[in-house]
Parts: sequence; C-alpha cells; structure tokens
Amino acid sequence: MPKNIASTGASSAALSHEELFDRIRALKKEMNAIVLAHYYTVPEIQQVADIVGDSLALARAAEKNDADVIVFAGVYFMAETAKILNPGKLVLMPDAHAGCPLADSCPPDQFKKFKEQYPGALVITYINSTAEIKALSDITCTSSNAEQIIRQIPEERQIIFAPDKNLGGYIARKLKREMILWQGCCYVHDAFSEPYILKICREHPDAEFIAHPECREEVLRHAAFIGSTKALLEHTVSSLAQQFIVATEPGILYEMKKLSPLKTFIPAPKDPDNPHSVCTQMKQNTLEKLYQCMLNRKPEIAVDEALRLASLGSIQRMLEMSPA
Ligand code: 13P
Ligand code: SF4
Repeated sequence: MPKNIASTGASSAALSHEELFDRIRALKKEMNAIVLAHYYTVPEIQQVADIVGDSLALARAAEKNDADVIVFAGVYFMAETAKILNPGKLVLMPDAHAGCPLADSCPPDQFKKFKEQYPGALVITYINSTAEIKALSDITCTSSNAEQIIRQIPEERQIIFAPDKNLGGYIARKLKREMILWQGCCYVHDAFSEPYILKICREHPDAEFIAHPECREEVLRHAAFIGSTKALLEHTVSSLAQQFIVATEPGILYEMKKLSPLKTFIPAPKDPDNPHSVCTQMKQNTLEKLYQCMLNRKPEIAVDEALRLASLGSIQRMLEMSPA
C-alpha cells in the first residue's frame, strides 16, 4: 500500500477523531469505498459515513451504488444483505462480531419445522434475520415497508411473520389481519414497559411520546406516533411539538438533534436506573475499528453462493414491492 495519510502508522489507537476522519476519508477515495451506517451507531461513525439511514435506506444504498467496496457500520445481517446484493464487491464490517440477537432468536432448523406446520402460508420475514432464514422466506421486509408489503398480499392468504412478534403484532392490529407470529423480539425495544413510559409522560406533559413498532403493545398504545427509525426522525422534523419522548435506540437522537436543534429529545427510560435502552451490538462499531477494517480490508463478509442465491429472491421481492 502506498505511504499516504490513510495508511501510515500501524497503531491508530492514540489518534483523535479528526485524524481518524481524515484517514477514513482518504481511504474512501483510495479504495472507491462507500461507508453505510445505521442511525444506532455512535455519532462519530454517523459523521464520517456517506449514508446514514434505517435498515431499508441502507439496503437500498447497498443495492445501488458505484463503489467497489461497501463498508457497513451496522450489525451482521445488514452487511450480509449487502453482500447478497453485491457478490462481486468487497463488503467489510468494522466488527463482524456485531450480531443481532433478534436475528439469532430464529434458528433455521426450528423455523423450518415451524413453517412446515402451515403449508401454503406466505413467509414474510423482517430483514433482521440470517441469510438462512431469508432463504426460507418469500418476502423480506423492514419496519419501514412491512405494512406496505403486507397490504399487497390478498386477504385470504395466510401469512407467517418472523422473527419480531412486536412488529408483527403491530401490523396485524393495524391491518386487522391475523398473522402467524414467530415469538422473537429485540431486547432493546422490548425493554420499554408501560409503567415507566406513563411516568415519564407525566413528568413531561408537553412532550409527544413516539415509539418504534418493535416496542410492546402496552407501550405502543400510548404513542402519538409509531414508525421506523427514519419515520420517527421525519416526524420530529414535521411535528409542531417541541419536545419528544423517544422509545427506540437512543443513537437516533444524534440525527434528531441535528435536524431540529431547537427541539428537546428525551430518551424513553428502560427502568429508573437505566434511562437508555442501548443496542450494545451497534455500539461495537467504533471509529478506530472502522479505520482499521478499511486499512486491512477485513473483516470481510462472505456468503456461500448457494445460500446467496437462495436468499436473494426474498430481498429482491421486498425492493420491488416497495420502490424508493
Ligand atoms: P429500522 O432500521 O427499520 O428502524 O429497524 C430498527 C432496528 O432495530 C435495526 O436493527
Ligand atoms: Fe437487533 Fe434490536 Fe440491535 Fe436492531 S436494535 S440490531 S433489532 S438487537
């Protein structure tokens, strides 16, 4: 590798954020790389990313870009989806051990048996799932487009929805449509409970309470607005409210404050001792690891070609059924 600003010095542990930003930007140019980051990553990763978005925006960005290298600061299923869509590109992750416990809550062998109980049912799975589960599915969805996709399925068709029971339950109630739900959940969103939400709402009577559909029904029923991370962000911009209590991963507060600097954002409490419910997996992405993964071109995401082809159809169907 040529000696330049991006690649000099083996150890970068003592570098400031500004120095790491400079090196990452130089490597992006040198490698023709695009850095995609989820809203739940730490602010400094969001600052240096080319695209910051929710799961759907990032899947779309992974599908359509001119980069040779995709660097995914998120969790494993996101980078894996990017690789499934781009077999010819190098896909890197700052920390390939950053998994998603929700995705892991749906083991393929158990899901296969579950599915066999409902022959003829259409299988719609949340993108927060492994490639093996996507290969067992008809259509993938995200929290942004789940409702849009399910509305397109004829009423008489039975639907299995996996793995998030809270998102599935929310859509089922909203569309008044019965669905067979896999009983998984996201520990970050499932941690919010009614008593603490009611308490914080009482303490901030002028604040609007907004929530992600991965939260439990007992929480969602008190929300003035329910939506995916991106929908919540857009709502805080367009709403006339000046204060918001936000029941989702607090990483999104960085973008919310950036877009509405005069508004107040209160992360919903998990319990009295934990004012935040944090996704520790998303936080495994650090600026230092982002730089090192680009410098060393690893860890690289690989997907077996047979599995890639088997899982691709459900992702492509999602993108076709919810065009940008
Ligand atoms: P969205 O990005 O669709 O809002 O989903 C949230 C999430 O938990 C991602 O892992
Ligand atoms: Fe998985 Fe929940 Fe973390 Fe999203 S926030 S990556 S669903 S554990």
